[in-house]
Amino acid sequence: MEKLVIGGGNRLSGRVRISGAKNAVLPIIAATLLGQDSPSVLDEVPSLEDVHTITAVLRELGVKAEFCAGTNQLFVDGTVIGRCEAPYDLVRRMRASFLIMGPLLARCGQAKISLPGGCAIGMRPIDLHLKGFEALGASIKIGHGFIEAAAPDGLKGAKIYLDFPSVGATENIIMAAAMADGQTVLENPAQEPEIVDLANYLNVMGARIRGAGTNVIKIDGVPKLTGRGYTIIPDRIEAGTYMVAAAMTRGDVYIENAISEHLKPIIAKLKEAGATLEEDTEGIRVTCDHRLKSIDIKTMPYPGFPTDMQAQFMAMMAVSEGMGTVTETVFENRFMHVDELKRMGANIRVDGRTSYVTGTDRLSGCQVKATDLRAGAAMVLAGLVADGETQVGYIHHIDRGYDNLVEKLVSLGANIRRVDE
Ligand code: EPZ
Repeated sequence: MEKLVIGGGNRLSGRVRISGAKNAVLPIIAATLLGQDSPSVLDEVPSLEDVHTITAVLRELGVKAEFCAGTNQLFVDGTVIGRCEAPYDLVRRMRASFLIMGPLLARCGQAKISLPGGCAIGMRPIDLHLKGFEALGASIKIGHGFIEAAAPDGLKGAKIYLDFPSVGATENIIMAAAMADGQTVLENPAQEPEIVDLANYLNVMGARIRGAGTNVIKIDGVPKLTGRGYTIIPDRIEAGTYMVAAAMTRGDVYIENAISEHLKPIIAKLKEAGATLEEDTEGIRVTCDHRLKSIDIKTMPYPGFPTDMQAQFMAMMAVSEGMGTVTETVFENRFMHVDELKRMGANIRVDGRTSYVTGTDRLSGCQVKATDLRAGAAMVLAGLVADGETQVGYIHHIDRGYDNLVEKLVSLGANIRRVDE
């Protein structure tokens, strides 16, 4: 096991380049299964544990998939799919593996996938995914820890309303509907930029998807999709994490490759807290030379404040002036980082879905752990400003979603290193 050792007190300054988006590349890698006749070549693929996991799932299906770390490229040849069953040990490792259900149903008319587990941040059900598949004409069977879906006569376009704008359900339904017979109208879908990126890639492959990023998506099924080249959008959550790091350490950082359009709530809230942000066509500069003021945040589906930035903002508010509130409306249990921040001296009171954070002058470095991906990022941010040394354990969570975190932070002047436990 490895841990991160962080010495607090350094201001971050310089430039950092944002990698491809984890939550765009995972559904897009699943979508490569729809590509016949030629392979897909994906560019700007981040080197993350989750990318390696879903690539391993594709290989389990008998699909040729190779990641080239040197060029951040992934080659997938989906022309032949040997199997339509994904094993427990891989799906257990990463819930996003469930995103292969839609493409397998569309391509092979069947899929057998281990039930995705919940995780630290909540139950993570898949009822909306299954409701969508059934609306498209698939039959669903659940038993012995597996979900089996079958559509021997192919899928048929349907009108589907999502009770909640679930990101994964939206992605799975779009991929299943891409080759269905007729039109599918998806109402109340997720509108995240990652949905738009998936739809753009599918349209490059020959799909006919309109309205991605709005509250109604229309998919006209086509008989075949062809593998193509595609470049993944930059990761708005990675960008947001470095923007918070720059503000918290009273630094001056240029976040290269950040797309302001995808970061509006983060930009607005950092300005409200007192940071200075300058946006240009290549990225965003974040500077701050004084203590930040506390703010109130409430997580919502896009275009609201992203739940994936909640923990990082809580770390920032732990050392800001005044009391702020953090309300989590997307997941039912995404305050696991509160206890870890309190070990460092943070003053936080949780009442149901809202945490009340009263800023303290300094946090004190100590041993903490990453309870999930974004909570781990929050602990690193807290360590950057704490008194003394902070050790963050269970960093496999962090490696799932941050490409070269230590190298990027060191290049900005942080005192951080990875050591064996
Ligand atoms: C995606 O997860 C992201 N993961 C998550 O990022 C992100 O937090 C989440 O969307 C919300 O933005 C990937 O894209 C790989 P949801 P997903 O389905 O698709 C409930 C990170 O840190 N729900 O939008 O699993 C669910 O319980 C990760 O990068 C149902 O009730 O999220 C949750 O409360 C963490 N039934 C809410 O919807 C369903 O069938 C949001 O889930 C599906 C979801």
